[in-house]
Amino acid sequence: MTDKLSEIGNYKAINWDRVSDDIDKATWEKLTEQFWLDTRIPVSNDMDDWRELDDTHQWVVGHVFGGLTLLDTVQSQDGMRSLSQDAITPHEKAVLNNIQFMESVHAKSYSTIFSTLNTQNEIDEIFNWSDTEDFLQNKAKWIVDIYRNDPDSLHKKVANVFLETCLFYSGFYTPLYYLGNNKLNNVAEIIKLILRDESVHGTYIGYKYQVKYSQLTDREKQAQDDWAYDFLYKLFENEQKYAALCYDQVGWTDEVMTFVQYNANKALMNLGKEGIFPTTASDVNPIIMNGINTTTSNHDFFSQVGNGYLLGQVEAMSDDDYNIGIADDPKGGDKK
Ligand SMILES: [Fe+2]
Ligand SMILES: [Fe+2]
Repeated sequence: MTDKLSEIGNYKAINWDRVSDDIDKATWEKLTEQFWLDTRIPVSNDMDDWRELDDTHQWVVGHVFGGLTLLDTVQSQDGMRSLSQDAITPHEKAVLNNIQFMESVHAKSYSTIFSTLNTQNEIDEIFNWSDTEDFLQNKAKWIVDIYRNDPDSLHKKVANVFLETCLFYSGFYTPLYYLGNNKLNNVAEIIKLILRDESVHGTYIGYKYQVKYSQLTDREKQAQDDWAYDFLYKLFENEQKYAALCYDQVGWTDEVMTFVQYNANKALMNLGKEGIFPTTASDVNPIIMNGINTTTSNHDFFSQVGNGYLLGQVEAMSDDDYNIGIADDPKGGDKK
């Protein structure tokens, strides 16, 4: 035992029958009900579509997914742990634990895609690229710097929402584009499951931001707004360069940035702030909106799982399930 033991005091058990913020409970229920795993999506069914892409388009898919892997790694390794330090309720910590695990699932799911579509050499090259590419590393490092070193809990939430509701979307553009063209549907299914999670994460963290923000003085609010808008402009400028690096070769950069603007406004909305771009959904390439809006029989925000998700069949156990190794009743009794 150390001499700090007395500082711990009595440890409190988390009580889900006394929840001080109903949003914590509702978010927990939503996130657990939409749980999914990458290994249940049949990505190999996309091989024919993949072989039809030329080298340049294959490069774009692989490398934007490399970028997304890096950002989900940031979220799983630094993001949620950092936000958890500022959690007000034990239930908020539980929700953040759930989010942290799902960020690991997101990060891993790109590897499931790579291992299906790419050779080992290609995969190594993609990871080498994402670990060293400057404009991508800028995003990761700037956000991680805030998570680790900024003492302001609101700044951390802003960084989190900007990352999840805006910066990911330059990468999401590619699978949504193919989905809108009815290509790489299983890859896109994974991305849509990630998008569905991010939608809840962004709303939840944005809500926690607004709760704390509403308690500030007008002056403090102004300082928070100034900081947030400055940071967004800095990220946006970098994003422009990152998008050019990935997309100039296929001519998509301008359309990708329109989509990023649209999502930057959404990130600001999650934080309860005014959007800064005049961009609306009608400005986004309709193929992308078509991809986003491709709903399947059970694939909307409140659904259990997406269409391509192979859910195991579950049935209730009966007493007969314990009759392992016992022969059926030879007299033809009531056994099945
Ligand atoms: Fe994620
Ligand atoms: Fe997330």
